[in-house]
Amino acid sequence: MQQGSRSKEIVQITTDLVGAGVERVCYVHPEDPDKAIKIPVIKDNRQSRREVKYYRKLVKRKGISFDHCPRYYGFVKTNLGDGFVVDLIRDYDGEVSKPLSWYLENEMEVSELPPYLDELKNYFLSNLIIFNYDMGLHNLLFQKCAPDKMRLVMIDGLGDTVAVTWLNLFASHVRSKINRRFSRFLQALYASQQVVAHKDLLKQSVRQ
Ligand SMILES: Nc1ncnc2c1ncn2[C@@H]1O[C@H](COP(=O)(O)OP(=O)(O)O)[C@@H](O)[C@H]1O
Ligand SMILES: [Mg+2]
Repeated sequence: MQQGSRSKEIVQITTDLVGAGVERVCYVHPEDPDKAIKIPVIKDNRQSRREVKYYRKLVKRKGISFDHCPRYYGFVKTNLGDGFVVDLIRDYDGEVSKPLSWYLENEMEVSELPPYLDELKNYFLSNLIIFNYDMGLHNLLFQKCAPDKMRLVMIDGLGDTVAVTWLNLFASHVRSKINRRFSRFLQALYASQQVVAHKDLLKQSVRQ
């Protein structure tokens, strides 16, 4: 991974693994429990480069909200490899927030989702933030900000995947891209095992 940090210090990771995906592992930052270090574990680290490149663009744009996307704090060298630092998404009680997939499998009705989904979509549209096909059930955390307040936070899937990006200079183009991709995401969400299994359960309970 390309180095952007001037610091030569190597951070020793002795902290907990927060989670592991196919491409990255994520640890609690040893110096700050509210930050995470993400380290690519496969050779093809295109996804991390795309995410970091997009983060750097966002940082330059003034007035961007990070209500539904972790903030980015730069590159870091660690004893486990090169990585980058972002906000670690935790609930108000300090627990690491759980993914939307977990909530749908456990304690949430599909019918409760629309307001959270609308809020997320409006966030992308009003901040002109582009996401890609990685934005889904497992990469959206449901953060409990307070006992009676939750929000969806996208932890993976930031940035564009197309080769030609100059059209993204036009807000109208970005808005239609967000609308299109969000519709695709909703289709996948409502066709997902978690939602379909839930609907089957509901049907069964109605039949009984
Ligand atoms: N900002 C974050 N806050 C809390 N947990 C995170 C965060 N980023 C990643 N994780 C955890 O680490 C896992 C892997 O990170 P992710 O970026 O999704 O990697 P991959 O690209 O391999 O899927 C996630 O599924 C999640 O459990
Ligand atoms: Mg992921």
